[in-house]
Amino acid sequence: MSVVCNITILFLFVYTMWKYLTGAVLTSSLLYVLKKYFAGGVCRCTRLLDRQVVIITGATSGIGKALAFLLAARGATIILACRDVTKATIVKTEIIEQYPVLVFVKELDLNSFSSIVKFAHNINDEFKYVYALVNNAGVFYHPQQLTEDHFDVTFQTNYLGPFVLTHCLLKSLTRSPNSRIVNVVSEAHRILQIERLINITTSQTLFRPHITAYAASKLALVLFTRHLAEKLTSTKIFVNAVNPGNCETDIFRHFPALSNKWLFALQWIIRVIVVKRPSEGAQTVLHAILTEDPCTGQYLTDCKVEVPSKLAANDTIATQYYNLTRNILKENVNLNCRL
Ligand SMILES: NC(=O)c1ccc[n+]([C@@H]2O[C@H](COP(=O)([O-])OP(=O)(O)OC[C@H]3O[C@@H](n4cnc5c(N)ncnc54)[C@H](OP(=O)(O)O)[C@@H]3O)[C@@H](O)[C@H]2O)c1
Repeated sequence: MSVVCNITILFLFVYTMWKYLTGAVLTSSLLYVLKKYFAGGVCRCTRLLDRQVVIITGATSGIGKALAFLLAARGATIILACRDVTKATIVKTEIIEQYPVLVFVKELDLNSFSSIVKFAHNINDEFKYVYALVNNAGVFYHPQQLTEDHFDVTFQTNYLGPFVLTHCLLKSLTRSPNSRIVNVVSEAHRILQIERLINITTSQTLFRPHITAYAASKLALVLFTRHLAEKLTSTKIFVNAVNPGNCETDIFRHFPALSNKWLFALQWIIRVIVVKRPSEGAQTVLHAILTEDPCTGQYLTDCKVEVPSKLAANDTIATQYYNLTRNILKENVNLNCRL
């Protein structure tokens, strides 16, 4: 009797509520499809790294931290190259609690060339083979200031630092067959023209709007990727630029619209749907590291090669800009490594 009663109640409930139930099912299906769409490409590589050494800069949060976990799951030996050793040690503990891998914490501040050179010497001495370098660390809308080397913080963290670091680590990367360099860039590279880039590069003490400074640093990194890949064609080092897409990370800590907690809360539902989680943003970086069919000098988005801006795809400009960067660095810092 009670079963019949329950079925009747259920039937009446569905009968009266069917419009709302259908609406709820359709809305949640649509939200699910949108979330999947905006989550972007997924790395399908099945390869394991079997203790191969991967260096990740800026692995204390966001995409770098998520990548460290994804690589630990593939058995890589991971070097967390971070300026905040305490934060990095916490990340290390979290990783080794979950995965039986080796994780090293090494201090690296991209805003100091002497820190970069010291880090690289240490790595070159301690590790015979380095399989991959991920130039991930970056800042966005950082308060305008100069580094100890007298460069704009955004430009040095996002471009000059990785430029110097990469050159200093070529020794260890060359020793490892099929090694990878992955530069984490951004779609923001598209908004800048060459005159503006040269202007920013050659007059560092004049501060520009934050978005311009960020775009310049990322365009410079895409051009560097292109030229370095060409320079390294005789080696087995594959160099690519990866755009992770828009991800929910600490990079927005200084961004006015999101550092305001009320505006942040208002955008929350939209962000949950259209903005990637760090582990989703890390997928294309993972793909660039693991793929057994690697390309070089390319711009990757959603685990596929994509065309960067016309300027960023110009080989002549890439070469000229590389030479300009070398000149600027030679004038300003005494680098005791291969440039
Ligand atoms: N999130 C996005 O929507 C998005 C979109 C396109 C591209 N990207 C790029 O993705 C990369 C990772 O960003 P994220 O979103 O994961 O940001 P995040 O959570 O803020 O992580 C940035 C990392 O860089 C480190 N870092 C900053 N300055 C450094 C320095 N001078 N020396 C060494 N490490 C330094 C930070 O260390 P601390 O913890 O010590 O600050 C942190 O670990 C960046 O290159 C960014 O431009 C992000």
